[in-house]
Amino acid sequence: MSDRKQVRIHHFAQMKQRGEKITMLTAYDYPTARAFDEAGVDMLLVGDSMGDNILGYDSTVPLTLEEMIPFARAVSRAASKSFVVADLPFGSYEISPEQAVESSIRMMKLAQPNAIKFEGGRRVARQVKAVTDAGIPFMGHLGFTPQSENAIGGRRIQGRGDGAYEEMLADALALQEAGAFAIVLEMVVEPVATELTAALDIPTIGIGAGPHTDGQVLVWLDALGVGDWHPSFSKQFGAVGEAMRQGAAGYVAEVKGGTFPSVDHTFSD
Ligand code: KIV
Repeated sequence: MSDRKQVRIHHFAQMKQRGEKITMLTAYDYPTARAFDEAGVDMLLVGDSMGDNILGYDSTVPLTLEEMIPFARAVSRAASKSFVVADLPFGSYEISPEQAVESSIRMMKLAQPNAIKFEGGRRVARQVKAVTDAGIPFMGHLGFTPQSENAIGGRRIQGRGDGAYEEMLADALALQEAGAFAIVLEMVVEPVATELTAALDIPTIGIGAGPHTDGQVLVWLDALGVGDWHPSFSKQFGAVGEAMRQGAAGYVAEVKGGTFPSVDHTFSD
């Protein structure tokens, strides 16, 4: 038995203070979340990246709250120590603070994660304040925000050009002020991510934002080698896709060849 403690919201500020890196991976189902929980991952993110990675959509945009809830519930059930964050998908929080609170409460009641995340800075600050005022822990997401991919004009690196740091800092401070406990920085150039991390009291969790953020997050299918596409900022820490192909091919070969099931796998009477 591991003596690892349940990760709670106040631990992230403590980790930032003592310079201990925060680890986060996406998870979308029970067995995967169990494995990551047992491996000691601090935070599991039921990301809306499940839209493309799990449900096969072209982007995160079509995914709905109703589609996400059963997956988030499975991850929450699996996590005994890890802190679970669930995304709100596109269209479920932008209209008003009331809509954001209603969607967050729905996610919290039906799926029971520990916190909610959604994308944007100053433009959603009123929503963030309303959610945190309702007693729901909130994580922000700045830099490249996939739900706005159409407006951004594709997967573009963020933080480049005059004034980019100041703009992102204003967004990050608005989230911090509204009660966010941490902020994901996605595809942000390293100097900007590093300066933001120093300027904020709350932790930053980077994905494609260099080594100086307070923590790191990766989409697990990229990190463990499932699928063919791997973003340049990710690293492959395992070969799960190849293990699955080999295992399935072995099964097919044995069934076709008549060696499975053998007497060991058969009820004789
Ligand atoms: O949905 C997701 O997986 C995310 C990560 C890329 C941070 O938001």
